[in-house]
Amino acid sequence: MTAPFADRLLAWFDQHGRHDLPWQHPRTPYRVWLSEIMLQQTQVVTVIPYFERFIARFPDIDALAAAEADAVLALWSGLGYYARARNLHAAARRMVEAGVPDSVEGWAQLPGVGPSTAAAIVAQAFDRRAVILDGNVKRVLARHAAVDTPQEAAATQRTLWALADERTPAARAADYTQAIMDLGATVCRRGMPRCEACPVSDDCQARRQGRVAELPVRRRR
Ligand code: ADE
Repeated sequence: MTAPFADRLLAWFDQHGRHDLPWQHPRTPYRVWLSEIMLQQTQVVTVIPYFERFIARFPDIDALAAAEADAVLALWSGLGYYARARNLHAAARRMVEAGVPDSVEGWAQLPGVGPSTAAAIVAQAFDRRAVILDGNVKRVLARHAAVDTPQEAAATQRTLWALADERTPAARAADYTQAIMDLGATVCRRGMPRCEACPVSDDCQARRQGRVAELPVRRRR
């Protein structure tokens, strides 16, 4: 009998996951939020220097809220998807007025924060169980459970959220969240997945069926 999914993933994370990302030390709500917004459309290696410069200039939410929009956009220059910077600034101003949320629902009401980002923030900043489902996690779960309906379909999304919920453990919320994102980014990659290095390959249904390369299914256009 193999150990539960989360146990194997966490054991892998302890050895092979990323533990030295700048937003992990210290792991405050502001730093985690900023990193998650930057990471929405941008890879970790690219984000790191932007994150460091941003934090040096705006060390806390009050500093960000008090900034001019142009100063915020200037620090975002080169990262792309500039709506992220405008939303970040607006959200900082709202948090100065209304306080920093500590629930998924509260975070999801802020501009630029969708349901998965809200959960990633709560799990990492407060070490509280919250279910994430970003692009990397969808790929991991679609392969592990051999979900072969088109990824974009509403029914597929419901299936993936349910799988994500089932697999998320009660404890070690922050580590599990980082672990499953790291697995998707570094092992269960879109191209050339490294199944030999995967801690959950034993019961991966896509692997068993020889269908890793064809999953997840993207709708043809
Ligand atoms: N993508 C979104 N959030 C991430 C994180 N915390 N680590 C790595 N990739 C991510």
